Amino acid sequence: MISVLKAAGAAALLSGAAVVADATMVEPYRLTTTRLMLPEGALSHALGGERIVHLSDLHLHGMGSSEERLAAAVAAEDPGLIVMTGDYADTSAGVSGLSSLVSRLHARLGVVAVPGNNDYFRGRQEEIFATLRSAGVTVLRNASMILQGPGGRFAVAGVDDPFFGRDDLRRALAGIPEGTPTLLLAHSPAVEERRSEAMLFNAGDPSGAWGAGWFWLDGSHLRGRQPDISFESGGSHTLRLQGREDGAGVGEIRLIPATDPELARYPSGDHSAPPRTSGEIDLDPCDRGATIHGAWTLNHGSDGLCVLHDGPDRGRLAAFPKIEPADRAEISFEAPAGVAYRIWVRIFSPASTGRSDSVYLQFSDSVDPGGAPRYRIGSALPLASGSGVALVLAGHTHGGQVRLPWLGALEKNISGGPFVMGRYDIGGTMLYISRGLGTSYLPVRFDCPPEVVVLTPPADEQRGGPRA
Ligand SMILES: [Fe+2]
Repeated sequence: MISVLKAAGAAALLSGAAVVADATMVEPYRLTTTRLMLPEGALSHALGGERIVHLSDLHLHGMGSSEERLAAAVAAEDPGLIVMTGDYADTSAGVSGLSSLVSRLHARLGVVAVPGNNDYFRGRQEEIFATLRSAGVTVLRNASMILQGPGGRFAVAGVDDPFFGRDDLRRALAGIPEGTPTLLLAHSPAVEERRSEAMLFNAGDPSGAWGAGWFWLDGSHLRGRQPDISFESGGSHTLRLQGREDGAGVGEIRLIPATDPELARYPSGDHSAPPRTSGEIDLDPCDRGATIHGAWTLNHGSDGLCVLHDGPDRGRLAAFPKIEPADRAEISFEAPAGVAYRIWVRIFSPASTGRSDSVYLQFSDSVDPGGAPRYRIGSALPLASGSGVALVLAGHTHGGQVRLPWLGALEKNISGGPFVMGRYDIGGTMLYISRGLGTSYLPVRFDCPPEVVVLTPPADEQRGGPRA
């Protein structure tokens, strides 16, 4: 009996070791090709016989044998169009590898790319965009281009990284002539997720110049300066806070007139209190009698200062602002119409992990400098499927990277919605989420090999018949 148990234990150990070896040494390098037929329609017709090759989430660390095989695999497809959906390089050597790789990518209609969150998170975005452009790659950041396929004209639109809210679908699609068949590139499938629009304030970004503790932020460290806002009408307004990563505390919010000369003298990148200005609106949550719902609390901290707190730090992430959040805090205040304000928040981060410390801000009737509604409470961003887009190509999730029997994706790379990988048909829009090519966090893949996606128009849309 003991020998049977020993044998069973040895078998379990061996099979466990085999799984670990596969996940770390075999599967991350087992390049696969996924072939898909595009639906019949105007986009397929415009493409004629041209194939689209889709690459995502390279996460390069250099140009090695895996990248050589990838370049050869793409060339073997004789692509009409190559598209890439973000997360290009994890290291400086990866940027050099990207340069080598993209110099070997050729397609008759061009190579088009959009940014990923990882490109910003590691602070190499400008270097990466310059590398792509110098190799002739078109980088679309909330923009579009018109291409002439064998069967007609079509548009390729691309949104900037949705993860930190840099994406603007309306702007990406603006200017595309009515009725033009459109392919949309997005790093993540967020363009199909129900979400609201909000200002984002993150205190504990590990790539920033600060760590845990209290800071003053204007939000510009994450996605450039968020537009100054004003109010459509004078009188009573509401500010709403909801958590992105739990654990953050908010001590004070100041709406400072954007044209105040004192503000211009405030050093960029400073996280001390901005100067006091005339005409500013100071929102201390205790003085203002903030209303709280769900996990939020309102207390005086150990230093005696008032703190609106988004519950304990459990590492939870709400990838996007909710339209109707159960957990929220709201403050009412008076403000005149038509004054442009820059928003500053005194925020507390309990840790500098990048997952413990950011909040969304929205207002009841805020508008941007052009007068368009922005960061509105209850706002709903448009979906790609409701915007006349025929095909969306995305990545970001890595398909989970590790997929367990019965459980599926172990981690969806912190995407907030229902999408994991593969094909989704939403009305007349086809969405494909690539498993990507590289890895993030841990260099492992299990039941989720890297993939090149090749999309081919249906045979009756092809001129000269299908390729072999
Ligand atoms: Fe990625």
